[in-house]
Amino acid sequence: MASDTITITDNRTGKTYDLPITDGTVKALDLRKIKVDDDDFGLMTYDPAFMNTASCRSEITFIDGDKGILEYRGYPIEQLAEKSTYLETAYLLIHGELPTGKQLEEWEYEICHHTILNENFRKLVDSFRYDAHPMGRLISSVAALGTIYPESKDIFNLDTRHKQIVRLIAKIITIAAFNYRHTIGMPYAYPDNDLTYTGNFLNMMFRMTEHKYEVNPVLSRALDVLFILHADHEQNCSTNAMRAVGSSHVDPYSAVAAAAAALYGPLHGGANEAVLQMLTEIGSVKNVPDFIKRVKAGDGTKLMGFGHRVYKNYDPRAKIIKRVADEVFEVTGRNPLLDIALELERIALEDEYFVKRKLYPNVDFYSGLIYQALRFPTSMFTVLFAIPRVSGWLSQWQEMLLDPDQKIARPRQIFKGSPRRDYVRMENRSK
Ligand code: CMC
Repeated sequence: MASDTITITDNRTGKTYDLPITDGTVKALDLRKIKVDDDDFGLMTYDPAFMNTASCRSEITFIDGDKGILEYRGYPIEQLAEKSTYLETAYLLIHGELPTGKQLEEWEYEICHHTILNENFRKLVDSFRYDAHPMGRLISSVAALGTIYPESKDIFNLDTRHKQIVRLIAKIITIAAFNYRHTIGMPYAYPDNDLTYTGNFLNMMFRMTEHKYEVNPVLSRALDVLFILHADHEQNCSTNAMRAVGSSHVDPYSAVAAAAAALYGPLHGGANEAVLQMLTEIGSVKNVPDFIKRVKAGDGTKLMGFGHRVYKNYDPRAKIIKRVADEVFEVTGRNPLLDIALELERIALEDEYFVKRKLYPNVDFYSGLIYQALRFPTSMFTVLFAIPRVSGWLSQWQEMLLDPDQKIARPRQIFKGSPRRDYVRMENRSK
């Protein structure tokens, strides 16, 4: 008779243990029963970087990396990218279901009417050096925003939580845009509530002297689709930071600032910028074969925007982005780097080196080309990743808070340092 258990024999003692298997996992705490003697702490698992450890149960995002599947709350990313909007997708992530017409109207109204920043906040933005990195600005600004809303500490009050979620999703575009305007020495452009979320963001970024900013619907829709694609990606580095920091029951502004800091790292949110640098360096389609040769020679050169820890197939987001790129270039004119990207992809997908290693284009391969065509500076690319990810972080944070299994995150360690020893006075230390 098959049973959902695993029998482990400890060869140190000859004892056997039956441990339950639930959802394809054993509870790490169950291993603690496995001891050599009563004084033994019990067996632990060693898993740096959580390569094979589920840290939570989640109902938000599903990824099957081998098949190239990504779903938010069960809805395939392809359908959301085609039929939904970023704000509707954010509602879905946070509430678990698609909104009714009335719910969506209220949600859009709420977000739209919270985009304005407390006027004191301008002084904070003004205080950065003109050339401060947009991500450093974003991280500090979000943390500072929390100081304006002390009630945000009341994280178990549903209404308060909802208010902060709305504020964060709404104000993140204003924070990003104000910081950009400060960098280029332009007066801040205030939100315009007649516009869509992405239209309003483009307005705050790029409005010049015109009374009303004219949003190009193709460009704002393209940005909206990119926001849908970046909204969540289950337990990645920044989401893990959001959950870990949030598990101390800090306010959500501080937790989002921590998650954004994790995203800032080049191994996480910075690859789209690297793709653009790579394409610029290659410079021309005729140089592509030589570049591929260098990558294959293993001299440390990587084909940036290719490969993924989870996807061992075409990243479903990359397919959608490629289509969006065509639509954007119809309006903005073709980005000359696109031909280099297409040739790189064509050669790589036929080449044994890449095929054998299951290296396919990931989300970052084409997104930078679109951001560039939309006139965003390269240094803002990670900000464009962070803006939509705020809704994913907040939905994961809320799920963590309401999960009775969760406690303050606190991993164990294997201590390999010096055993106890007595303090040595300075004059007795060897030189
Ligand atoms: N170009 C050339 N070779 C590569 C690449 C690449 N982009 N990616 C992996 N490889 C090789 C790697 O050298 C290794 O070869 P070998 O077996 O001969 O040693 C093999 O493929 C397996 O790679 P890995 O390093 O074990 O794979 P990983 O899962 O640890 O790394 C990755 C995943 C995304 C860090 C890596 O593919 C990479 O550095 N890609 C380029 C950077 C990039 O585009 N990052 C964006 C990720 S998507 C954004 C997000 O979702 O957050």
